[in-house]
Amino acid sequence: MTLVLGIETSCDETSAAVVANGRDVRSNLIATQYDLHAKYGGVVPEIASRAHIERLDGLIVAALDEAGTRAEEIDAIAVTHTPGLIGALLIGVTAAKTLAWAWDRPLVGVNHIHAHATSAAIDGPEEIWPAVALVVSGGHSSLFHVRDFDSIELMGRTVDDAAGEAFDKVAAILNLGYPGGPVVDRLARQGDAAKIAFPRTMLAAGSLDFSFSGLKTAVLYHVHGPGKTSGGLEKLVSGDVADICASFSAAVVDVLVAKTMLAAERAGVTRVVVGGGVAANSMLRERLTTACTKRGLDLVLTPPAYCTDNAAMIAAHGYQLLKRGRVSDLYLSATASG
Ligand code: KG4
Ligand code: ZN
Repeated sequence: MTLVLGIETSCDETSAAVVANGRDVRSNLIATQYDLHAKYGGVVPEIASRAHIERLDGLIVAALDEAGTRAEEIDAIAVTHTPGLIGALLIGVTAAKTLAWAWDRPLVGVNHIHAHATSAAIDGPEEIWPAVALVVSGGHSSLFHVRDFDSIELMGRTVDDAAGEAFDKVAAILNLGYPGGPVVDRLARQGDAAKIAFPRTMLAAGSLDFSFSGLKTAVLYHVHGPGKTSGGLEKLVSGDVADICASFSAAVVDVLVAKTMLAAERAGVTRVVVGGGVAANSMLRERLTTACTKRGLDLVLTPPAYCTDNAAMIAAHGYQLLKRGRVSDLYLSATASG
């Protein structure tokens, strides 16, 4: 049995986990910082770094404790080293390097988006690859052709806002709080998804890239009036807000589903895997299920518990890299862009 300690500090969640053999999650503790950033409407990098410093040590001790594991039993340390907020990443990377040195155990640097792409494997089929993976989060919307845990090829990415960022910005326009995805998702279930024809930006024919900033602006002008950025919110009644949430969600989801289907066809795979915070979205899960069933594709959705940022996916992905000899040395650096 191989026990990996995972550490995640790339954005606004501090997380530590212990995972056995890449699949058996013994502990997965997450300290969210929503309360610290909510009043600013988004993540403030300095505040995030400071909170990681304050919380990480205690969280690692608690993760070992909950897993019933002693430090000597840990076989390797996996840490997110890219992409993310540089100050935030440095806290996790420094902690991981220190432990790897002090415990004399291998260190594995993990790409955060790759871990989102493979997070469905924690509870999914033993032989999960090859597949096309859609990663939709607050920072990324990407399509990958995954041949193996260490063979992940980018097929398309967002050229502006990420899908989750669009959810958060629309929630801010509607004054629904931060992070916006879960509340927009909840309200969308009570609204009419066909009520407002928001744009579906497909970019060039056959492109697998995404663009969501035009959609966000379309919502802004729908709420306040063409070319206006304020004054419209108070005129909306609660039914209007639900319809906007549903119609906006449908516009995002339609684009994500269409491009994922195209990517699967182009890669010649029969399986689609979905991860990242927005993979928790109920409309996305439903519409992907319908689209995959229609085309005879096998769909593996990341369980909601592993969709948003967590260290279990870092430990799980790190285990697979370790097995393939992809270990890092103590010169491992944090890099903001992945
Ligand atoms: O993966 P994640 O925790 O962080 C990044 O790596 O960016 O994703 C967070 C994002 C936020 O933008 C949040 O609003 C969005 O995921 N999100 C959702 C839902 N739950 C979280 N978006 C739509 N529907 C949801 N149910
Ligand atoms: Zn993430």
